[in-house]
Amino acid sequence: MVAIKACIFDLDGVIVDTARHHFAAWKSLADELVISFTEEDNERLKGVSRVDSLDYILQKGNLVLDSAKKLQLMEKKNMLYLEMAASTAPTDVLPGVVSLMDEMTASGIKIGLGSSSKNAQSILDKLHLTSRFSTIVDGNNITLSKPDPEVFLKAAAAMDVAPENCLVIEDAQSGVEAAITGGFYAIGVGKGLESAHAQLENLEGLTIERISNLLQ
Ligand code: BG6
Ligand code: MG
Repeated sequence: MVAIKACIFDLDGVIVDTARHHFAAWKSLADELVISFTEEDNERLKGVSRVDSLDYILQKGNLVLDSAKKLQLMEKKNMLYLEMAASTAPTDVLPGVVSLMDEMTASGIKIGLGSSSKNAQSILDKLHLTSRFSTIVDGNNITLSKPDPEVFLKAAAAMDVAPENCLVIEDAQSGVEAAITGGFYAIGVGKGLESAHAQLENLEGLTIERISNLLQ
């Protein structure tokens, strides 16, 4: 029997569909730089920090830029992203998230956030979810981006729960890899996440009992 004492949620693509805004903003920047940027590239960039994402795109286009220009491009991408995400509201929380959080809280399972995004706090505020988290670790608190497990290890330490008693819910390949490397249980949401302990299409109808069955 797996003893889950805490659950660390990724944000973009798990709690809310902001992953599409990250994609659209990077795509617009890549188009401007005349660098091809596909859905497949985007899959690889999910969970990856802003700077590492830009480096990936520039490398794809064989483009070498100085750090001032790179900073300017990252700011531009972020402005685009923030414009797209500006209207994010509580009704955008993905199906199943709130009821799962309610059940976890009622059962004494702590809830943490483990996101690479520096915008995580403002998105959680827009969703009216901030007060549900025991800890929030995001892109402002880490030095190493997923697939490094730092973000999840910090969240688990803040909740005083060992990784083997902690579930991570992730939509990104880099995030599932980070969770597995860190010794966590991982549920992947979406496709192509075979290295997770279990894969689901979405979180609709997910309960603690079903999680226990999936992790057996
Ligand atoms: C992750 C997203 O959550 O955050 C990535 O999956 C994004 O697509 C990364 O690049 C960093 O986000 P931000 O908001 O700090 O640019
Ligand atoms: Mg994600």
